[in-house]
Amino acid sequence: MATLYGIGVGPGDSELLTMKAVKTIEKCQVIVAPSATENGESIALETAKEYIKPGTEVVIKHFPMGKKDRVIKALQAYEFIEARLREGKDVAFLTIGDPYVYSTYSHMLKHVRDCGFKVQTIPGITSFCAAASLVNETLVVGNERLVIMPAANVKEITDEKFVVVMKVYKHEEEVLDVLEEKGFEYIYASRVGREGETVLTNREEILKLRDYMSLIIANRK
Ligand SMILES: C[S@@+](CC[C@H](N)C(=O)[O-])C[C@H]1O[C@@H](n2cnc3c(N)ncnc32)[C@H](O)[C@@H]1O
Repeated sequence: MATLYGIGVGPGDSELLTMKAVKTIEKCQVIVAPSATENGESIALETAKEYIKPGTEVVIKHFPMGKKDRVIKALQAYEFIEARLREGKDVAFLTIGDPYVYSTYSHMLKHVRDCGFKVQTIPGITSFCAAASLVNETLVVGNERLVIMPAANVKEITDEKFVVVMKVYKHEEEVLDVLEEKGFEYIYASRVGREGETVLTNREEILKLRDYMSLIIANRK
């Protein structure tokens, strides 16, 4: 039976894929990669492209950022994948970072499971782990909790000391306001592992940059 492989390709550095991810990409007959923009680039595909064998079918599927079209687009991507699986072809679905961290893969998977296909997921290095290594910052220690949250929910921070804020784009001001008010130190990391990689700690510089591929690592005493 053909298999769907969900593959985490890491933050965007082609040397930060696992060996398992590379070997699986090499052997799949079909590669599906998500793009946030219609007819746009796929960062996951860019990251993995050097491992794709000539003759492999490569398809970019558009997954819009907002909630509006998400369900229908996930279904369309799934239908394409299902058709290839029924032909007996192994399909790799690439995701940036890890497939189970804020990923389109999760939305799509339930359709595949419903149809009884074999699914194997290959974990990837998350963007926030890559960012922590880049800036040599501890994510969490001892008995503390690490909270990973989307920027839209930043106001929900209560007594946590170690926080990762993802999907910061378009929420920069609010996130910085909340973190500063609650006494956090923060590091903003954008395009980790990719061209244009930037690390900032200055509020004004962060508000000027406003990059989609960005996150914040924050902690307080
Ligand atoms: C849809 S989520 C994908 C998360 C991904 N699955 C992971 O494990 O890191 C997209 C968010 O991940 C973060 N992100 C992904 N890649 C990044 C990178 N190279 N540098 C900084 N942030 C990144 C940003 O916060 C971005 O808004």
